[in-house]
Amino acid sequence: MPKLTGTLALGILLISIFIFASSDQPAAKLRADYDGLALTPPMGWYPWNTFGQEPQNEKLIKEMVEALLCSGMKEAGYAYIGPDEGICFYRAENGKLTTNLERYPSGLGGLGNYIHQRGLKYALYTDAGTLTCSKAMPGTRGYEFEDMRQFAVWRADYLKIDWCNTKGQDIIQTYSLLDEAQRAAGRPLIHSLCSWGVGEPWKWAAAVGHLWRTTGDICEPGKADWSSAMKIVSANEKLFAYAGPGHWNDPDMMIVGMPGLSQAQNRSLFSLWCMMAAPLIAGNDLRQMTESTRQILTNLEAIAIDQDPLGIQGRIIKNDGQVSIWGQKKLFDGSQAVLVFNHNNSPSEVTISWDEFGFSREASLYVRDLWKHQTTGPITGGLSVTVPPNDVIMLRLSRTKEFPLPPIISADTYLISLRSKSSRPEKLSASLTIHNAGTVDLPLWKVHGSFPAWLRVEIKKQGKNQIVTNKINTAGLNPGYYHAIVRLDNTEPISKRPLSAFYYDVELEVK
Ligand code: GLA
Repeated sequence: MPKLTGTLALGILLISIFIFASSDQPAAKLRADYDGLALTPPMGWYPWNTFGQEPQNEKLIKEMVEALLCSGMKEAGYAYIGPDEGICFYRAENGKLTTNLERYPSGLGGLGNYIHQRGLKYALYTDAGTLTCSKAMPGTRGYEFEDMRQFAVWRADYLKIDWCNTKGQDIIQTYSLLDEAQRAAGRPLIHSLCSWGVGEPWKWAAAVGHLWRTTGDICEPGKADWSSAMKIVSANEKLFAYAGPGHWNDPDMMIVGMPGLSQAQNRSLFSLWCMMAAPLIAGNDLRQMTESTRQILTNLEAIAIDQDPLGIQGRIIKNDGQVSIWGQKKLFDGSQAVLVFNHNNSPSEVTISWDEFGFSREASLYVRDLWKHQTTGPITGGLSVTVPPNDVIMLRLSRTKEFPLPPIISADTYLISLRSKSSRPEKLSASLTIHNAGTVDLPLWKVHGSFPAWLRVEIKKQGKNQIVTNKINTAGLNPGYYHAIVRLDNTEPISKRPLSAFYYDVELEVK
């Protein structure tokens, strides 16, 4: 190869710097580059907002799993569920985290299997300091690698790590060490940092985790607090530039459906979380949800805004103290989401014009009302709306009449468990179904990496769903227990953005 002249080499260097700098990928390495997780904000349910610590136990979590399934929330994308600071484990004399069997009689591994078999993902909680916040459970300090291995053994898919009792610890070093320990443990999981904004995690945490709390708690357990939620919205909104696929600002679990909030407030809070591309972690008692709360939490047209593959956090573009107008939320199909939020206790008349959202003033747009589920238009220039007190109007604006929903993925199980019947070589097979509640048809999911020789995975389409068949051949295997984690990848075909990696466990017992 001929040697480059100095000028040519400099030219190439400058061109590559330009290409790198003008790409819309963040320059820094993301934790999500490593595991492909949380490329849209995680969705699920966590107990803290309603229950606090005391009533948390295996029975409660299992009841919530069933309620989540019955309510249609699973199909709407809610997946991560498990105990918060629920006195789940202690540190045994040998230093190992050990299940508190009084509260979790199946063991934390058993609860994880139950959750996976029901088609949900397992969330657990710990702390980066010496003890958790109430001091009822050990923190990970000094045991980072051992504890992360134990969470992998329990098959956690999501780990919230609190920041209590961390005196003298450097926050960046601590969470970086926990990230390293998670990678070393070999089980991909979502790392949710919970320092309530301490240490400005939005500036550095994308490299070590997938989401970080931006503020203090949204409420005391059991006491939904609208004004505290509004303060959180205001703080979280300002951080819009730090969020994107695989790295999210987390304004805390939602209070939608908790006693004390009106239907309008529930709708507003949910819409604000969707506009902010916030993790949608429900915090209400799912067993006693009203139909109105259920409909709000499962509104696919609003969820589509949150789960949009571009992962842009919307922001306030105009605020007169009574009404805020939210925009700058471009969506995967070229349309845009707009929220008009009336903070006022009386109705407000608001006029919006298309040029405020980057369209030309004369543009003719179709308007989809995401709560009324109605399309109007084309409308030229803009429109006037009347927003009821403490309520929202949430719209999608598009040049075309179609309002496609991006992929919203769920599965009927995340655990394939097989057992050979005899010591002779056997061929076994079991399938799982990947559902897509969105309207965009996906290409086939693709197997990532290689597996052990005893496992083969085949994928085929069945309408909008895809069937993943696991074919196992026990020939040549010694008696014993085998385990593999399968990763599937896919890309949303309109935006060409990767979807969050789809992981599941395969376990095999050979006689
Ligand atoms: C902190 C967190 C809460 C919850 C409690 C548990 O306050 O911010 O979300 O996990 O700890 O004690």
